[in-house]
Order: sequence, then C-alpha cells, then structure tokens
Amino acid sequence: MIKEKIASTIHPVIKEISHRWSPRAFSDKPVEQEQLLSVLEAARWAASSRNEQPWRFIVARKGDAHYSNLFKGLNEWNAQWAFTAPVLIVVLAKKEFKPNRPNQHSWHDTGLAVGNLLVQATHLGISAHQMGGIHPEIITANFHINPNEYDVISVIALGYQDEKRLAELNESYRELEYKPRERKPLNEIVFGSKMGKAPVWLK
Ligand SMILES: Cc1cc2nc3c(=O)[nH]c(=O)nc-3n(C[C@H](O)[C@H](O)[C@H](O)COP(=O)(O)O)c2cc1C
Repeated sequence: MIKEKIASTIHPVIKEISHRWSPRAFSDKPVEQEQLLSVLEAARWAASSRNEQPWRFIVARKGDAHYSNLFKGLNEWNAQWAFTAPVLIVVLAKKEFKPNRPNQHSWHDTGLAVGNLLVQATHLGISAHQMGGIHPEIITANFHINPNEYDVISVIALGYQDEKRLAELNESYRELEYKPRERKPLNEIVFGSKMGKAPVWLK
C-alpha cells in the first residue's frame, strides 16, 4: 500500500474507506472467481428506489474473448494504464421502471451498488479504479445494448494494485500514483440552518 494514499481522516472511519484509492498499476495476478463473485454480490445488495436494482454490469476478464471489445470502449488516457487491470467492468443503469416511467434515481442507485462493490473489494485487498473517460457508443454497439433501455455510465478497472507495474506506464501516471489524496473539508459539504452555513456542532 502506498502510504500517501491512505486517507488522513479528521474523524475515524472504517479501514475499507480510508484505504480505498484508485490505482493505475495492477498486477498480472487474476482476480479469483470467488473474490470477483463477492464484489459483485456486494453490489447486488445495495439499496435502491422501489428496490428496482437498476444496476447492470458487463464483466470482462483478460483472456475472455470479449475483453478487447470492452477495452476498445476506453478513451486514450485510460487505455494507457488500464491495460494492466485483469478485470474490466462496464457499469450500466436501467433508465425506466417500466416503459414511460423514468427512474430518476437510476444513476444514484447504481452509484450505491458501485460503492458497495468498492468497499467489498477493498476488504478483500482488491483495488478498483472507475473511469468516466469512455466511449459509451462503442460499448453500446459492441455489446448489443439498447440505448433506450440502458445508460452506459462508466468502466471499472479491478485487480491487485502493484507498484512494480508502474515501470510500464508513462511518467505522468507514475507521478499521480504517489500524489496524496485530498478532500474538501466537512464544513464545505455539510450544512445546517441554510445552504452554505455549516452547523455549529461541526468542528
Ligand atoms: C465516475 C468516476 C469517473 C472517473 N473517471 C476517471 C477516468 O476516466 N480516468 C481516471 O484516471 N480516473 C477516473 N476516476 C477516478 C477519480 O479521478 C478518483 O476517484 C478521484 O481522483 C479520487 O481519488 P481516489 O479514488 O484515489 O480517492 C473517476 C472516478 C469516478 C467516481
């Protein structure tokens, strides 16, 4: 674990949160089927509006015939590091509860499922890096997705983080790998009597 990447939290949180970060260099070691199933199971048990479970995942492991079809959906910036990841997962959201009944929480709830997936992965010592830098239209075509039914949101690179693999990446990615993680302070995101005003109990 790269020490700069552990969150320096002001208030205590569980390890699965403080130790999660998004690496760009993964080991060749495949993710065991049992572990892969566990992270997907964690996603499956997320909460969702009306228990609709709008999340969908397309999984490709290196060596699967459809892996290159998925890889072609990454933009150039991401393709240059994500080739190290043994697993790629497309995240999709079902747009409607039923025809003409839009689910306004589909992305929110899909995010909850991905959050669960990340927590379970971290618990198992597996890292994940989400990518919005994708070509949804390529993924849509390559996997015969009906765009009226599903939004292609992101792709997750999954695997075991491996510092040694950084040698294969160009320098800009290597630098990012050691950059400390930062977050806005609580008083910029938590409010009391009105928007923008932090509650008195917030230190
Ligand atoms: C929806 C989403 C899209 C992202 N897209 C990309 C991306 O295209 N390429 C990339 O290198 N990182 C991407 N990231 C990773 C973020 O940059 C990263 O999560 C953020 O900088 C915080 O770092 P941490 O995850 O290590 O805490 C994305 C993250 C999320 C949640």
